[in-house]
Amino acid sequence: MISIDDGLARFLGEELDEISGIFESQLEGEHDIINQICRHVESYRGKMLRPSLVLLSALASGVEEMSASHRIIAAVVEMIHMATLVHDDVLDEADTRRGGRTVNDLHGNEMAVMLGDYLISNAFHLCSSINRPEVNLLLGSTTNTLCEGELIQLGNRQNLNIGEDTYFTIVEKKTASLIGASCRLGAALTNDDEDTASRLERFGVASGIAFQITDDLLDLVGEEDVVGKSVGRDLEKGKLTLPIIYALGDADADFHEHLVKMIQSRDLVGLRCAVNESGAIDQAMKKAASLVEQAKSELQDLPETPARNLLAVLADGILERRY
Ligand code: FPP
Ligand code: MG
Repeated sequence: MISIDDGLARFLGEELDEISGIFESQLEGEHDIINQICRHVESYRGKMLRPSLVLLSALASGVEEMSASHRIIAAVVEMIHMATLVHDDVLDEADTRRGGRTVNDLHGNEMAVMLGDYLISNAFHLCSSINRPEVNLLLGSTTNTLCEGELIQLGNRQNLNIGEDTYFTIVEKKTASLIGASCRLGAALTNDDEDTASRLERFGVASGIAFQITDDLLDLVGEEDVVGKSVGRDLEKGKLTLPIIYALGDADADFHEHLVKMIQSRDLVGLRCAVNESGAIDQAMKKAASLVEQAKSELQDLPETPARNLLAVLADGILERRY
């Protein structure tokens, strides 16, 4: 087991505090009504995974000193992520996130839609301040991609024949693209080493897909008070996730009919048991584990640094998620 380097943990903590300050001052304005709701969203910022990936990828690429651009882009990717969560909770009609109430639950859908727009607009405004058009282009293309992921997902609601390929297309676009871009940008803001930037991006994409698989497993088998967000939303919204796709794919005619009935009647407890007994939960976890291995293999040719080791630890941590 690799332990986390103390110096690196301290450094990351200090940097993340600074990035939180950039995030907050970008959103702070003269209107209390907006400030209050932005502060509520700031309470969703738990793990700061995406900013951490910008910083660790910069370190793994040999950065000597973190620049203002690294910190600003770390705040930008978190702001984009927050915008997507606020909109996602509207789509999923979710009432709980990070152990607190969602914006839509507290203030209604209209406020949540506008707040998501406000966050995305601020993210691109802040991004423009570093005056690097190629970074705006990459992030603009990433937000296009994650909207595509959500649109494809919406178009497949209630589709009982959705296959593994479509599931992975959705997940790569809606979740892994921003995680991959965070890694690429940490490297690209450090130097012109395209090979390292591509490796880190591939690390992020494979980890991001694994992350969403475990997220979907928690939605199926997790308990709301542990997970800290609404569970069972995928079934409620007719979104078929990997364990259910595997269970349907391997089922004989009777079991298939039984599964379909539980999906159609939104029987979360029954579906959870049946999918578990079919072995499909283990199968989905194995897929996540193989993606984590694939992600870590992308790090192999990078110089061995505490940052590279921590990236590998974070990837392994995906398989231990309980929230
Ligand atoms: C999480 O899904 C959702 C995403 C990672 C992406 C959501 C993207 C949008 C709603 C598009 C909005 C885009 C912009 C640019 C504002 P989930 O429901 O599986 O995750 P959860 O368990 O955290 O709710
Ligand atoms: Mg959701």
